[in-house]
Amino acid sequence: MTARFAAGAQTGRGNVHDLLELAITTADAAGAMLVDQRPADVRVAATKSSPTDVVTEMDRAAEKLIIERIRASRPGDAFLGEEGGASSGGSGVRWIIDPIDGTVNYLYGLPDWAVSIAAEVDGEIVAGVVTVPTRGELYTAARGEGSYLVHRDGSTEKLSCNTGIPLERALIATGFGYFAQRRARQAEVLLGVLPRVRDIRRGGSAAVDLCSVASGRVDGYFERGPQEWDVAAGGLIVREAGGFMGGLNGRPASAEMTISAGPGLYEALHDLLAPLSPERD
Ligand code: IPD
Repeated sequence: MTARFAAGAQTGRGNVHDLLELAITTADAAGAMLVDQRPADVRVAATKSSPTDVVTEMDRAAEKLIIERIRASRPGDAFLGEEGGASSGGSGVRWIIDPIDGTVNYLYGLPDWAVSIAAEVDGEIVAGVVTVPTRGELYTAARGEGSYLVHRDGSTEKLSCNTGIPLERALIATGFGYFAQRRARQAEVLLGVLPRVRDIRRGGSAAVDLCSVASGRVDGYFERGPQEWDVAAGGLIVREAGGFMGGLNGRPASAEMTISAGPGLYEALHDLLAPLSPERD
């Protein structure tokens, strides 16, 4: 799969276009490996923050593949990977990787899981790729160049999130954490949200949720808990599709709270959430 962009902008640390192309080919390779080599019975290799926060051997294999491929082309870059692949580098470029975002979906054979790769230059995300192999969809964005959905047959759509959606007609994606206490609070927050919106979706992958905001398949998204690797690529894809991503009260998006939506709805969703204290466990 390839994305079509005009000449790539220079960052001073390299060409954004080159970083994007490397992210695309690497995410494609990891996605193909995860589909082709998925064992009939995917097993949990370890648990992380709680018994429901799982990692499979396939998460580890995909992260290894991604880091090895990028490092072969760009040996001086730094990495942050969900499965522990953190290393420093001197080039000013850092790759933020989630080898499988939606591991529980992958474990159960549900389609919505993604490989997410973002390139950050001097602390700013400049290129992002989220591939959803089971759907044959590859989402891409380069800073200042828009975001695109490339289908399996090579056809490409420029993405544009929904704008001006009133809260009561908004379809909102969300997710839940891995700790029982946090989930209990998240259920309380939902009590305040659900009666005020069209409906709620819990897809199981924050990266896919953000791509769904970018493509207009949902109108907004909020969640307490997503980590940098869950939202780095998807956040750029949303912004380049005309949407917003941030936290509460003007703070940047973080594991405390991440909110995303198009203009108009973003403010209303924020103002609905803020009094519900969604950052509290
Ligand atoms: C999880 C998914 C899920 C979200 C969790 C994430 P993982 O990522 O994105 O939708 O609700 O907050 O941790 O663990 O499958 O990489």
